[in-house]
Amino acid sequence: MSEDKMKLEGDGKSIDLPIHSGTVGPKVIDIRSLYSQTGMFTYDPGYTSTGSCESKITYIDGEAGILLYRGYPIAQLAEKSNFMEVCYLLMYGELPSKEEAAKFEHDITYHTMLHEQLNKFFSGFRRDAHPMAIMVGVVGALAAFYHDSTDINDPHQRIIASYRLIAKMPTIAAMAHKYSTGQPFVYPKNELSYAGNFLNMMFAVPCEEYKVNPVLENAMDLIFTLHADHEQNASTSTVRLAGSSGANPFACIAAGIASLWGPAHGGANEACLNMLGEIGTVDRIPEFIRRAKDKSDPFRLMGFGHRVYKNFDPRATVLKKAADQVLKELKVSDPLFDVAKKLEEMAVEDPYFKEKKLYPNVDFYSGIILKAMGFPTSMFTVLFALARTVGWVSQWNEMVADPVQKIGRPRQLYTGEPERDFVPMGKR
Ligand code: CMC
Repeated sequence: MSEDKMKLEGDGKSIDLPIHSGTVGPKVIDIRSLYSQTGMFTYDPGYTSTGSCESKITYIDGEAGILLYRGYPIAQLAEKSNFMEVCYLLMYGELPSKEEAAKFEHDITYHTMLHEQLNKFFSGFRRDAHPMAIMVGVVGALAAFYHDSTDINDPHQRIIASYRLIAKMPTIAAMAHKYSTGQPFVYPKNELSYAGNFLNMMFAVPCEEYKVNPVLENAMDLIFTLHADHEQNASTSTVRLAGSSGANPFACIAAGIASLWGPAHGGANEACLNMLGEIGTVDRIPEFIRRAKDKSDPFRLMGFGHRVYKNFDPRATVLKKAADQVLKELKVSDPLFDVAKKLEEMAVEDPYFKEKKLYPNVDFYSGIILKAMGFPTSMFTVLFALARTVGWVSQWNEMVADPVQKIGRPRQLYTGEPERDFVPMGKR
């Protein structure tokens, strides 16, 4: 980190604050001494100008539409790599050698089974429970079953917990789906790939053989790769904040899942497909664009806009191409895909969206592919959580190992009543 300074003057004070430069991206002003020097806090609701940590994992340039995992562009990883390799890269910082890749995949594979007693948790939920509600509950409950990987001060236990989370998430996700359909749970199969095993657990039934379609397996792997990490977004920041108190990794990831669930974040893929269904036909698009621009209408174009990207989300570009291929391969003709393509075309040409730099994000096309693959809409955000788990655990590991790490404790601008005396009931 470089040591330039920024002078801050006002309220009768003048102080110098250090400026740090990363390897790429905007510089940051180090305000850690601000309160001790001035008695003032910064105010930044939504953290639009706040860097909460130092990280070496993922870099985004929102203006240029660039996303790098450990320095590698997402489009290259999507084309040339696979999800297991990307998991290794995110966790360890480098692409694995052949031997490292094989060992990593083996280690993940051998953690895919769930403690049998965890199966009983599912029957405590209503059959019509949203699978994200089940995910929050069951992932949080893992801490009650894997005590031997909850000591966050032991680096080996941290790795075991991380592997367990990456490995068991597909099993839990598929079980949440099977429970809602009333079908029996399907156990993991070690000879299958990570994506293939998940599809098998999702769609196989005991009464007939299920063969994993390689086109779907590749599409699944691609979707996992594209969602694997995204620097300090709401759910990742939630994981870091929960973890900053020393909470165990299973509890932290459950907190991340809860944050991801919201429609402004991971819940947008489900909301986007519901919106495309509501639009229904191309001729109704102008009406919905009009509503999205109307400030008195709460409706927003789901799958559009991003806090960081002010250009095309590079993940949406990859997914648009993949959606085309998957629909062709599966010989599915989905009118919603036509609606999506036309909606994108019309919105990006519209002055409102142009001026506010609102472009399709990752959630815009993922739902179309997932629907073609046979996933119910309620599972879309679950798949996001499954894929993002590696990002969460990588960020959590980085935070726990960071020597400057402290409990996350923001302050506030208090605008409530100043101190006043209690008024007895009879005098109010
Ligand atoms: N449709 C219509 N107008 C929009 C949209 C949209 N999708 N997104 C932003 N705007 C407008 C917004 O009304 C505001 O206008 P004004 O400046 O006149 O008040 C301006 O654009 C800036 O929006 P913002 O809400 O202040 O921006 P933000 O950075 O706080 O929000 C966002 C980012 C992603 C929450 C928002 O764009 C949104 O709600 N998009 C729809 C939901 C969505 O697709 N979310 C998925 C995000 S990508 C995956 C993930 O992170 O999980």
